[in-house]
Amino acid sequence: MNLEAVARAEARLLLPTYDRKRVLFRRGQGCYLWDDHGRRYMDWLSGIGVCALGHNHPAVLAAIRKQAPRLLHISNLFYHDYQAALAERLARLSGLDRAFFCNSGSEAIEGALKLARAYARLHGKNGGQPPWRILAMENSFHGRTAGALAATATKKYREPFEPLLPGVRFVKFNNPADLEKKFDGSVCAVLLEPIQGEGGINPVTPEFFAAARQLADRRGALLIADEIQCGLGRTGEYFAFQKYGVTPDILALAKPLASGLPLGAIVTREPVAAAIKPGLHGTTFGGGPLACAVAITFLDTLQHDNLIANVRRVGKYFREKLETLKRKHPSVVEARGIGLMLALQLGAPGKDVVDACLARGLVINCTHDTVLRFLPPFIITEKQVDEGVRLLDRALTEVESKPASQTPVITGKKH
Ligand SMILES: Cc1ncc(COP(=O)(O)O)c(C=O)c1O
Repeated sequence: MNLEAVARAEARLLLPTYDRKRVLFRRGQGCYLWDDHGRRYMDWLSGIGVCALGHNHPAVLAAIRKQAPRLLHISNLFYHDYQAALAERLARLSGLDRAFFCNSGSEAIEGALKLARAYARLHGKNGGQPPWRILAMENSFHGRTAGALAATATKKYREPFEPLLPGVRFVKFNNPADLEKKFDGSVCAVLLEPIQGEGGINPVTPEFFAAARQLADRRGALLIADEIQCGLGRTGEYFAFQKYGVTPDILALAKPLASGLPLGAIVTREPVAAAIKPGLHGTTFGGGPLACAVAITFLDTLQHDNLIANVRRVGKYFREKLETLKRKHPSVVEARGIGLMLALQLGAPGKDVVDACLARGLVINCTHDTVLRFLPPFIITEKQVDEGVRLLDRALTEVESKPASQTPVITGKKH
């Protein structure tokens, strides 16, 4: 089927959840993707922060080839070779103790919220009633399932489904006074993204993160770090919290963990983990042998190929290039971000720039309407940054010189 046929079939058969870009991708290699016409695109989105090793990485393929013929799925009723090994790696890297594996970011958040409430039931002091409230941040994004959505601030995602899970209160991000004001005895956990992703690449301030840790400690509540987008190397540390010297009680992970296979995790301290007993939480698919084997390979590759150092070095270079674009283009308000989690804040909606980039063979996306977001693979080189920046530069120039309504036609680049 060609693009037109696929698009027509989807329009007839799928729930209309996505307004997809009109490209049919067929293959990927490293930092590049190819569409059904053989046109090549530089991938600065990595499947929304998932394909951190790029596409078609030989180590990932080898792990899949090795494990797939042996055992794909066994359920969590039995042991397999990889969950403990992966948990051990994550514990060692994070300084935490135990893990639970699931299938996605949203599911990791659901597990984290349940774990916080289970812990509060055992340890919370709130005049007889266990603390239940979650303090989440304005501008946050934690996922689309009911619990994660309740902790997601963006109105357009929430409102059509209200009433949502009760007990979530929103705090002004990076405002310690507001956090303190709302931190009463009913609070069992603070939930924050150390760098807000969908909210527009907004890093937490060291003061706010430290205040959240201190208030949680003082009140016997837990600090949950959602590192589903910013974790596992993307900021130039294994975990973004390590940049701040603040350790959360619960860490939520997903996106790049299994390099494109679905896998999420919560990692936590021993006393928090002790609040869970058999039967309280579970999953059929989560932490299967294939995904866990690939996740171990992902962590091995980060280490062996020195990719965290690459994220730091190329991230710094990339950020400088974005600063140059900011100085050149009147439509750019700010360049921001850390490592390879970067953004250009525009003064107006960024959809036309995303389309103009795609037309030139560069895949990016726009979040929070006006923020161009860049989440390239960790293997990206300075030369590839230059290549993408040239395309982005031209796309910005084109959009700045056009009336808002003229959408570019996608032509890509033939190779
Ligand atoms: C910070 C953060 N939390 C949670 C999620 C939800 O993850 P998933 O889409 O895998 O359910 C996302 C997804 O973008 C995210 O960026």
